[in-house]
Amino acid sequence: MNSEKVEIFDTTLRDGEQVPGCKLNTEQKLAIAEKLDELGVDIIEAGFPISSPGDFHSVSEISKLVKNAKVCGLTRANQKDIEAAAEALKYAKRPRIHTGIGTSDSHIKYKFNSNREDIIERAVQAVKYAKTFVEDVEFYAEDAGRTDNDYLAKVCEEAIKAGATVLNIPDTTGYCLPEEYGEKIKYLKENVKGIEKAVLSCHCHNDLGLATANSISGVINGARQIECTINGLGERAGNTALEEVVMILKQHKNLKLYTEVNSKMLNAMSVLVSDLMGMPVQPNKAIVGANAFAHSSGIHQDGVIKNRETYEIIDPSEVGVNASSIILTARSGRSALAYRFKNIGFDVTKNELDFLYQEFLKIADHKKEVNNDDLSLIIDKVTKKI
Ligand code: KIV
Ligand code: ZN
Repeated sequence: MNSEKVEIFDTTLRDGEQVPGCKLNTEQKLAIAEKLDELGVDIIEAGFPISSPGDFHSVSEISKLVKNAKVCGLTRANQKDIEAAAEALKYAKRPRIHTGIGTSDSHIKYKFNSNREDIIERAVQAVKYAKTFVEDVEFYAEDAGRTDNDYLAKVCEEAIKAGATVLNIPDTTGYCLPEEYGEKIKYLKENVKGIEKAVLSCHCHNDLGLATANSISGVINGARQIECTINGLGERAGNTALEEVVMILKQHKNLKLYTEVNSKMLNAMSVLVSDLMGMPVQPNKAIVGANAFAHSSGIHQDGVIKNRETYEIIDPSEVGVNASSIILTARSGRSALAYRFKNIGFDVTKNELDFLYQEFLKIADHKKEVNNDDLSLIIDKVTKKI
């Protein structure tokens, strides 16, 4: 069986920018959009045009700038939102309108004070109206994670009949377990009439730390688009992290799924978004965290120095990181110390190393990390003694 492509829908500039304190101006959004286009994402969700004049302007400017990716604007299921999105997207080479409505009982009752039939009617009208402006219409069933599968299938069927070409199945509240989310996608694949005309999309939030696992379960079960953000930014605990899904599909070739993202740009992309949004990346973040390729315990360091593959499943250069790092702490062993001495120009013999190691431990027990200046001091001390 040939590998199949999973489209990467980046929503850093929409769901990602909803994070408190992460507001970007148009210039910063353009810088991110340009890099996302270069990174090779398939769709850039540029914003929610009706939400503010600033967001409308940003979506419009991004539409003019982006060369390859489709540019998408979010709307609710009403005419004003859709008109604003169509207007903001009018310069895009490949515009997409992303419209939808909440479908869970909780959304229907508390947000809309409505009923299931009315929600389907509103969904259909929104998709049909969006279709009068653009060919490419994506429909989202907000809170699909907590929507029962029978009703969700009905909503999807009607959205396809109305002209939707992509069906977004958001786990808006990050509630689902991977098996459950995967089964939902499988159920829709098997039960929605006309599903062959549409692409199923995963949009998972990370409230239980399962966004990436749920998205992967979704594509294993037939979805062919993942909605994600750089560094996993997004409402509350965030969205699926783009860098994680890209590397999972790259590492697990047996899944026979691929993306067209240039993984060598992932680290630079993460730094750009973190800097512009003023949102530091946690050091232990998978793929792009400062410690993702750092080894600090003696056993691991000895292994990695002998052969990187003993403790690394990804070659750091694959994600744009120069090399793995060997961090010196009180848990480090002799081989890590010798390796770091060699890096700063001192090739030490085995006997010298025994002595240097004792000196090293005296410092290491009182510091979180022993740096090159500390190593030079150790060498000075030893040379003076000799
Ligand atoms: O999480 C969600 O349901 C969303 C939709 C608006 C697509 O972000
Ligand atoms: Zn979302």
